[in-house]
Amino acid sequence: MTEKQQEILKNAAFNAQALAYVPYSKFRVGAAVLADDGQIYTGCNIENSSYGATVCAEQVAVLKAVSTGVRKIHALAVVTDAAEFARPCGICRQVISEFAADDFLLLALRPDGEVLLQSMVDLLPGAFGADSLNSRT
Ligand code: THU
Repeated sequence: MTEKQQEILKNAAFNAQALAYVPYSKFRVGAAVLADDGQIYTGCNIENSSYGATVCAEQVAVLKAVSTGVRKIHALAVVTDAAEFARPCGICRQVISEFAADDFLLLALRPDGEVLLQSMVDLLPGAFGADSLNSRT
């Protein structure tokens, strides 16, 4: 992906973070996906008074893309309120892995705008995937 695409995706993640619905944790997360259709899909975390019903920002962004017909994503930018580079949770890593194209890159952002690039294998080594289901004995 180009520098310009990275910049656009980064800004989209920061804009999405501002929309987070976080009355309980007050921890805002924003995500933006660059999908195979060339579009950007954004997401923020959406909490619930029944805490387990909370949905992560990355999942909102990926599921928005997939529910529009997208099946492959090339990049996902994510930013949180933590001072460090954003770290997607385990369930988000699995959800991303289902739709990650071979060239997928995670743009883990820091609130100051610094970016750490990670491949899918860095993010979820030994991922369980469709191949795992197909290798039944
Ligand atoms: N959260 C995300 O949105 N993404 C992650 O990868 C980790 C956690 C949200 C869920 C909850 O609203 C808040 O951060 C604290 O866990």
